[in-house]
Amino acid sequence: MARWQAGLLFLGLLGAGCPGPEPDPPPPAPVDPVHDALSRPVTPTLDPAAFAGAVACQTCHPQHYAEWQTSRHAYAMRDEVFRRLVAIRQADYAGAQDQFCTQCHSAICARGGACVDGFSFDALPPVALEGVTCEACHRVSGLERRYNSGHVLDPGGPMRGTIEDPATSPFHATEYSPLHATSEFCAGCHDVIELSGLNLERPFAEWSESPAAGTTETCQSCHMPTREGVAAEGGPPRTVHEHRFIGVDLPPDEVADAAERALHEARVQALLTSTATLAVTVPSAVPAGAQLDLVLTVKNENRAHNFPTGTTFVRQAWVAVTVTDADGMVVYETGGLDSQGDLRDAFSTVEPYGDADLLKLSSGLVDARGNPTVFPWRAAEHASQTLPPRYARTFTLFVPTSTTTQGPLQVEAKVRFRTFPPFLLRVLGMEEEAARLPIYDVASARAVVAVE
Ligand code: HEC
Ligand code: HEC
Ligand code: HEC
Ligand code: HEC
Ligand code: HEC
Repeated sequence: MARWQAGLLFLGLLGAGCPGPEPDPPPPAPVDPVHDALSRPVTPTLDPAAFAGAVACQTCHPQHYAEWQTSRHAYAMRDEVFRRLVAIRQADYAGAQDQFCTQCHSAICARGGACVDGFSFDALPPVALEGVTCEACHRVSGLERRYNSGHVLDPGGPMRGTIEDPATSPFHATEYSPLHATSEFCAGCHDVIELSGLNLERPFAEWSESPAAGTTETCQSCHMPTREGVAAEGGPPRTVHEHRFIGVDLPPDEVADAAERALHEARVQALLTSTATLAVTVPSAVPAGAQLDLVLTVKNENRAHNFPTGTTFVRQAWVAVTVTDADGMVVYETGGLDSQGDLRDAFSTVEPYGDADLLKLSSGLVDARGNPTVFPWRAAEHASQTLPPRYARTFTLFVPTSTTTQGPLQVEAKVRFRTFPPFLLRVLGMEEEAARLPIYDVASARAVVAVE
């Protein structure tokens, strides 16, 4: 019962004719969390047909086009993981709320009346399937909020970018936009808040609180490296920005040949390796049968955002440690995988909670009953173990030895990372993807301990 109804009931009980208190004010206008005037409008605010689509840019901007095509942005609406998660959310809400997931993955779709409740991916116009396409960024004329698709789109307006003196283009009007050089520009999509109010992804919020805030170390400076070239065919020489948008995930096979995929994988590895360092401290010797104290320190060397960042509730970053004896027998292990390739945590189907010491650096969602979940819309809490910029965290592991343990003990420790846990891909019916998922070694350290 709403408060005002309770108030009326109370007035009623007082009986007619009594000089009761002033009646309560009328109820506030209903809040509709599902819709939003900017990014989830009830009626369309733009026409998808007003956008030319990426192929129209290819003739004059071939390099930008070729790079963008291999980026996750180009794949944001075709990604099978995305589509299958959206299908589960659609089922959970009986087809309602369908603009929510698409508002950033394709703002043109969500605002253009194509991604409506109960939509099917197969029926969408081609420009919607282009996901975060050229014009989703270059037709942005302003920013209303730094999260949840906060951009103002201007379909009939000029192409906006950071060239102050653009040459004349026969295809489009052009306008200088300082916004496009800022981290705020990326924040419009990269900080994600669920309808429940739960913070899901916050790289921009992390950056704003980091030593990089307010400096030239913007999202673009690391994720859009520069080179000398031309901005358009026949245009003047310029410093241009790479459009591969490399992060941690790889391009799908259909848009990247083996060489391009290898380039992405090497660049992902380089980004990850630049991020974290690991140190192991051990005593030089331990008496046989005593406990060995292993002290591990993991540090995020990135000044700009947490490690990991973004969709940390599906990413996996963890510490793997093995200790072997003189015969090469494993005397201690944490961070290993079960027979299905999963970490032995709550989500393992073969050894649930089988790894009591597991040190995870990503984040976890918990539903209202306290059970872990990977589906953000079912979650009531989001607990993050991620490392803030330039932050080091120290863990101590207690390794038992026995009186028969033969030294020296070899300690091998790693920080490892992968984009998805295999169990999630299996739940989504993508077993083959699970099998080819790369695991990156982000940092490693070794130590030797004598047994006396
Ligand atoms: C007929 C050729 C042509 C086509 C087609 C074309 N452009 Fe351009 N574009 C140009 C030229 C020329 C420039 C200016 C380059 C320079 O000054 O170095 C330019 C500049 C730009 C800029 C930079 C603006 C700035 O001020 O920073 C952006 C962004 C851009 N184009 C996006 C696009 C997009 C997106 C498409 C497709 C929807 C597209 N262009 C299609 C020729 C074209
Ligand atoms: C100093 C360089 C640097 C800057 C600046 C930077 N990043 Fe990153 N970013 C990285 C590195 C290194 C990684 C890989 C390690 C990681 O995931 O933290 C990464 C990873 C990412 C990922 C993939 C995360 C995942 O696991 O899915 C996203 C998304 C991302 N960054 C967005 C941003 C945004 C948005 C900004 C600006 C607010 C930004 N980055 C600024 C270096 C940078
Ligand atoms: C996720 C947003 C995003 C998408 C998608 C995107 N761009 Fe850009 N683009 C930018 C930003 C941001 C800059 C300016 C970076 C800076 O100055 O720091 C830029 C710069 C440019 C420039 C100016 C030259 C340069 O490299 O600085 C051109 C031309 C351009 N983009 C064309 C395209 C075309 C064509 C596509 C699609 C094939 C595309 N962009 C897709 C964000 C995007
Ligand atoms: C219009 C919304 C939008 C804007 C603006 C945008 N992004 Fe993205 N970005 C996305 C979406 C959605 C994805 C995930 C696509 C997927 O993998 O399905 C993504 C993915 C990425 C990734 C790949 C992360 C990974 O896991 O590998 C990087 C890096 C990235 N964006 C950087 C940037 C930077 C830097 C900017 C600002 C210049 C920016 N983005 C602006 C929506 C956007
Ligand atoms: C506020 C904008 C926004 C909304 C809303 C949003 N996403 Fe995303 N999504 C992103 C960005 C940005 C990334 C890239 C972050 C990263 O890679 O860490 C991303 C990445 C992803 C990825 C990882 C893609 C990959 O293969 O690496 C999946 C899956 C995904 N989103 C699913 C969803 C689903 C399902 C919903 C609805 C419940 C949703 N997203 C709502 C912006 C959004």
